[in-house]
Amino acid sequence: MKPVLGTCYYPEHWPEHKWREDAKRMAELGLTLIRLGEFSWSTLEPEPGQYEWAWLDAAIDVLGAEGLQVVLGTPTATPPRWMLDRHLDMLAVDENGAVRKFGSRRQYCFSHTAYRQDAAAIAGLMAERYADSPYLHSWQIDNEYGCHDTVVSYSAVAQAEFRVWLQQKYGTISALNDAWGNVFWSMEYQHFEQIELPNLTVTEPNPSHVLDFRRFSSDQVVNFNQAQVNAIRQHSDKPLIHNYMGRITEFDHYKVGDDLDIASWDSYPLGFLVDRSGAEPDWQRRFERQGDPDFQALHHDLYRHVGRGRWWVMEQQPGPVNWAPFNPAPLPGMVRLWTLEAVAHHAEAVCYFRWRQAPFAQEQMHAGLLRPDSSESLSFKEVEQALADIQQLGDVQVSQAEVALVFDYESCWAWETQPQGQGFDAFAIVFEFYKALRRLGLNVDVVRPDMESFDDYKLVLVPGLFCLTESLNAKLASHKGLNMLGPRTGSRDENFHISQPLPPAVEGLECVVDHVETFPPTSARPLSNGGNVHTWYECLQTSANVLETLQTGEPVLIGNGNTHYLGAWPDTEALNRIIQGLAEKAGLVIELMPEGVRKRDCLSHEFIFNYNAQAVSFRGEQIEAAGVRMFPK
Ligand code: GAL
Repeated sequence: MKPVLGTCYYPEHWPEHKWREDAKRMAELGLTLIRLGEFSWSTLEPEPGQYEWAWLDAAIDVLGAEGLQVVLGTPTATPPRWMLDRHLDMLAVDENGAVRKFGSRRQYCFSHTAYRQDAAAIAGLMAERYADSPYLHSWQIDNEYGCHDTVVSYSAVAQAEFRVWLQQKYGTISALNDAWGNVFWSMEYQHFEQIELPNLTVTEPNPSHVLDFRRFSSDQVVNFNQAQVNAIRQHSDKPLIHNYMGRITEFDHYKVGDDLDIASWDSYPLGFLVDRSGAEPDWQRRFERQGDPDFQALHHDLYRHVGRGRWWVMEQQPGPVNWAPFNPAPLPGMVRLWTLEAVAHHAEAVCYFRWRQAPFAQEQMHAGLLRPDSSESLSFKEVEQALADIQQLGDVQVSQAEVALVFDYESCWAWETQPQGQGFDAFAIVFEFYKALRRLGLNVDVVRPDMESFDDYKLVLVPGLFCLTESLNAKLASHKGLNMLGPRTGSRDENFHISQPLPPAVEGLECVVDHVETFPPTSARPLSNGGNVHTWYECLQTSANVLETLQTGEPVLIGNGNTHYLGAWPDTEALNRIIQGLAEKAGLVIELMPEGVRKRDCLSHEFIFNYNAQAVSFRGEQIEAAGVRMFPK
């Protein structure tokens, strides 16, 4: 596959006479894909039912005339002001009951069925109009579901829809009462109409109630997306895409992805380092202008799976952004490095956000490839360089990873609902496992728990999984490679009850968790072989082989044959040792990577990335700061 580059363009922000010059410059630079339209509803339909297509027709033609292909966004993340007059109750409501107002974007509640229909209608009209355009490459549906904390809404329409969802799921109110354990604290209901949303309760609401509400909220995103999928597919067979985000876990991306053809995500490494990576201050200082060395790759590997092998970066940070608490500029070389790293993880396309910096409105401090006056910004040259690199690379061929790391969205909701101690976070533990694997120079697939088979993998890791279904347990038991489950994996059934037989109930391992302890960040329990466990510790009673213990002798890692269970959250030193031991036992070829240096192996090439702000010596060679090495095989 030969990857291509593109950019995000807003013709509605610029006078028409600029479009031709812009298109020409994009093409001269070597870009081929232009995403547009995704926020343009008020320009396309200034009054209800009054459509203004001419400007979009012209913009697409101008781009197409330069040989550019268009990714057309449906504008449904930004319903115009008149939409609110039409649907007074369409606004999302936050956990405290505050209504989220018009005046920015994503104000809609996913449960508003009439808005969902209007969104599908505009998507359908666009599809009808542009399906046959020779310049149409694909569709982007909506924009960044979940951005600005918008999946979970406590509105009246959400409440009404939730009751319907519950009725469909449980059939009778007594089945719901049993599933939720409502006999506890006299929470039993007599009928579905009594059930409210689980906010503003006196103390914590029933976790089963919350989890069902989170499942419902995620399903509403799936439904919202599906409505547009159906509307577009009636007219167009071009690929359907959504642009997901970094560390947004409020909806099940796998399920949304099942209805689409390509997954994409919006990669802002510097903003994410500060507000989403969870990095300690020292680490943030060290990678301030480069981003965390594993955060982007984790999402590349996740979204490759969400897209069933087809994925892009739809928005790539090109300079300082405007929205993080602090907004440094990328170190020279990083825009090129991020681009090539995506390519090394088999991205089909990388598009820069945005073509030209906007001198007005919320994002005026957000860099583009051009400055507001159309002169080139510093990153322009790096894109030229990345294009030359891609030219030189030729075909980049996918290789099969030997390690699978299971990540699931329901576990994120479950452990947010019942952390049992601050800091137990399903994303965070998966991210730490991922870092430990990448330190060994390994390729990793981040995969869903219900994937068909793990047979392609020599090592499968399942940390922090809420519910260990019978089918996953059986698949892992028959898997020929090595497995490690835990901590906390399989500790609840799907109703959010403690599993019986008692956890961990991993096939092939005799072991019971007697109790769990959680600690504040200031506490840790030392391990006999070095390092500590922190945050989470399970008291294991087992007859299996004990492979790691606390200094006081209690088992922490146990194993029988291929199957292992980890009953604690190890710190970096201990986790690195444990994962290295497993990788060696699984027969994987490992190469210890220097801090901040990362490797990605493809069938056709090997890539080395130096995320450090200084040169690093690797395999006897100096790699410059923010440097990339690409070796054809
Ligand atoms: C993304 C979003 C874009 C733009 C960008 C700024 O989250 O999709 O529309 O706001 O962030 O970095």
